[in-house]
Order: sequence, then C-alpha cells, then structure tokens
Amino acid sequence: MALKGLKDKVAVITGGAQGLGAGIARRLLEEGAKVCVVDINGDQVDKFVGEVNSPNLIGVQADVSKEEDAEKYMAAALVAWLLSDESSFVTGAVYPVDGGWTA
Ligand SMILES: NC(=O)c1ccc[n+]([C@@H]2O[C@H](COP(=O)([O-])OP(=O)(O)OC[C@H]3O[C@@H](n4cnc5c(N)ncnc54)[C@H](O)[C@@H]3O)[C@@H](O)[C@H]2O)c1
Repeated sequence: MALKGLKDKVAVITGGAQGLGAGIARRLLEEGAKVCVVDINGDQVDKFVGEVNSPNLIGVQADVSKEEDAEKYMAAALVAWLLSDESSFVTGAVYPVDGGWTA
C-alpha cells in the first residue's frame, strides 16, 4: 500500500506492541514517521521496542481504557511530536508534561 508524506509525522498507535498495531508501527517507521506505541502489556512493549531498535520509536505501557493512564502516553507522544517536523513551525510555546511545564 502506498503510504507517502509521512516522514517526520507523528503516530500514536494503541495496542501497538503486537499484532496489527505492531505491523502498522513498523510500516510507518519505514516511511520515516515518529511512532509512539501504547500497550497494556509492558513486557511486550519492551520486547517490541528492543526488536525494532529505532530512534524514531517510543514505547509506553498504559491501559488506554483508563483515563488516568492517558497522561503517560500523551507525554511520550508530545516528546515524539517535539522531535518531529510538525513542531518546527511552533516557537516559544509551552506545553504541559507530566504535571509540570516544559518549553
Ligand atoms: N488479526 C485479525 O485478523 C483481525 C481482524 C479484524 C479485527 N481485528 C481486531 O483488531 C484488534 C487487534 O487485533 P490483533 O490481532 O492485532 O490483536 P493482538 O491481541 O495481537 O494485539 C492487540 C494488542 O492490544 C493490546 N491491548 C489490549 N487491551 C489494551 C488496552 N486496554 N490498552 C492498551 N493496549 C491494549 C494487547 O496487549 C496487544 O498487544 C482486535 O480488536 C481484533 O479483534 C483483528
């Protein structure tokens, strides 16, 4: 499938440490995207991130059905976004991260 124009874009993939999500993560990484996989299974997150071994991949253990877990992966996704070209048009902005603030 043609997937173009994704270089340095950010993708957050829930249930992304195995199965369909992991396949999508690998494909997006091939296209140069920054990928954040979120999965309830922390061991599988570690395994997948270790196998792929890409600087463009962040893995987070979180249960996406729990609102209180959302800040974990939103913070990781924010880091990926800040490292991407999508953030390059923003200067001097301040974003909340993990209860604190960072620029
Ligand atoms: N595999 C298929 O052919 C197929 C076809 C149609 C639909 N689906 C559906 O697509 C989805 C994914 O299928 P799959 O084969 O990749 O499944 P999978 O079990 O291989 O992967 C699902 C991943 O989601 C994670 N996960 C489950 N609950 C979670 C939660 N609350 N928070 C975060 N992560 C969570 C699991 O730990 C696992 O890593 C399923 O809902 C499945 O029913 C699959």
